[in-house]
Amino acid sequence: MKKKILITGGAGYIGSHTAVALFEAGFEPVVIDDFSNSDKSAVRGIEKIVGQEVKLYEGDCNDVKLMEEIFSTEGIAGVIHFAAYKAVGESTEHPLKYYKNNVGSLLVLLETMRKFEVGDIVFSSSCTVYGQPDENPVKESTPRKEAESPYGNTKKVCEDILNDYVKSKAPVRVIALRYFNPVGAHPSSAIGELPLGVPNNLVPFVTQTGAGLREQLTVFGDDYDTSDGTCIRDYIHVVDLAEAHVKSIQHLADKPATYFDLFNLGTGEGNTVLEVVKTFEKVSGESLKYKIGPRRSGDIEKVWANTDKAEQVLGWRSRLNLEDALRDSWNWQLSLKEKEKMS
Ligand code: WQD
Repeated sequence: MKKKILITGGAGYIGSHTAVALFEAGFEPVVIDDFSNSDKSAVRGIEKIVGQEVKLYEGDCNDVKLMEEIFSTEGIAGVIHFAAYKAVGESTEHPLKYYKNNVGSLLVLLETMRKFEVGDIVFSSSCTVYGQPDENPVKESTPRKEAESPYGNTKKVCEDILNDYVKSKAPVRVIALRYFNPVGAHPSSAIGELPLGVPNNLVPFVTQTGAGLREQLTVFGDDYDTSDGTCIRDYIHVVDLAEAHVKSIQHLADKPATYFDLFNLGTGEGNTVLEVVKTFEKVSGESLKYKIGPRRSGDIEKVWANTDKAEQVLGWRSRLNLEDALRDSWNWQLSLKEKEKMS
């Protein structure tokens, strides 16, 4: 009997890639998604890759009745909790919406897990909890800073909730994963990033510009203290990120009943915005139209990960690089164009 893992937000960008990785590792993912920031085509994409049906529940993780129905029907063995709003800018305009959804859904999930005696949870956190670190690469022991946004604060609050809950000796085993910058798409182009509206993030904006959907990329500032003046980030391939979630679920299997740990998930390398642009041009053969604009408020200058702990404890390290990620993102973007033509 395959272990059933509930993936909240499982139709989302990282959730869908994690569903594929779980299937391939012999688990049976069960997806709940309210499709507020995802599309049902992602579920079909997962099924196309793995050649199996995905059990899908459409709804909100804040819905206690629905969550209890899923746990009682499915016999869930563990949970990976992605479901959250994640637009940094939007969170500053609607902080209460972010706290209600991002923090509220975690509380409902933890109470439901307790009621049905499910102990294992992998939580989707973010490098944003580090703010602008004093030094790079950041380790898990690097102190967290004032988050740059209510979105970032919800991630810190959720980490604290999980930590305090474990300290109360609750029967729960937790791994929090601090993602750096997820990029790329599954090499099959059956799933990838589907930003609704104008992309906030760099790579989807780059691929949409390359595909002619956007006039040009605006580089938010080139007067930072970096090699070419543009910000540095640690861009990690979403397929590598998905693998780390499988390793985390496997790692929890033989841990004590009450356990907490957290890990950085990055490549350990930093790249500037202009390096991303040049790498995209190299892998796509397209020349990208861009201009230098003003800094974006809230942006930090540079952050990249020390990922030694994930390697030593989880036996995980990223395998794919920025070229792989941009090539897969570009192929994904081109596949969307093809799908549009056929629809
Ligand atoms: C990367 C770099 C921009 C767009 C955020 C969240 C993080 C996670 C990932 C959810 C920055 C520059 C961007 C553009 C640009 N979100 N840029 N022109 O801000 O590092 O991280 O998204 O999980 O938690 O904080 O990612 O892709 O928005 O920006 O120049 O049109 O690209 O200034 O330096 P960010 P990003």
